Amino acid sequence: MTARLNVNIDHVATVRQARRAPEPSVIAAAMACEQAGVDGITVHLRGDRRHIQDLDIRLLRDSVTTYLNVEMAATDEMLDIALQAQPDAVTLVAERPNEITTEGGLDAKGNVAVVSVAVDRLREANILASLFIDPDPGQIEVAQRIGAQQVELCTAAYAEATLGARGIHGEGATRAAQELQRLREGAELAMRLGLNVAAGHGLTYRNVGAVAKIKEITEFNIGHNIISRAIFVGLQKAVREMRAAINKG
Ligand code: PXP
Repeated sequence: MTARLNVNIDHVATVRQARRAPEPSVIAAAMACEQAGVDGITVHLRGDRRHIQDLDIRLLRDSVTTYLNVEMAATDEMLDIALQAQPDAVTLVAERPNEITTEGGLDAKGNVAVVSVAVDRLREANILASLFIDPDPGQIEVAQRIGAQQVELCTAAYAEATLGARGIHGEGATRAAQELQRLREGAELAMRLGLNVAAGHGLTYRNVGAVAKIKEITEFNIGHNIISRAIFVGLQKAVREMRAAINKG
């Protein structure tokens, strides 16, 4: 069985927020993705609201008929929004104020009290609780212990090693192979512990195949590379090409 693909449409909102204009519409983008056959839509509501806005979450909840996954920090403000909007899943992420994008996984181990309260609140509301963590055995074990139903393994380190010429020669290729092995072992452990296993961050048409070979991974959350390609070929074609790249893996 091939893994599910949720498309992260944050960067449609990034373009819209560059002008605080109505276009491009994230709802239209979500509908185009669904028409292209995606399994779900993912968005990240950041504390600074740099792309996705609170209203987007409400409108997406009313329009998305596949699966809506909202990434957010484990704060009371964000959890209140999630509980009200009722997405299908919430992925708890680490968020640092001036980061360009999410930098690595959530430290569930170092923040057990806060993260487990968030997981409890989500589960009580019947929202699937997923933790975006590095493929670190300690983090995975904590995720299971505090009752998360899913882990999303952070593929950033693997993806970084595959970029440009670094992925073909020397150090980059060796590091990519090592990171792939960490992902493989992390996915196996998570599955053994009864967790759903997702993966994402920095994945591209070129590097997703190797990760898609890890059979324990049942869901991908991919955004930037698809939206980048959509500028040139259109969103539906860009989505279908990513689906094909995952299937080929
Ligand atoms: N998964 C998580 C938890 C993320 O925070 C992000 C980025 O918002 C992604 C997946 C998608 O990453 P990318 O845009 O690099 O594909």
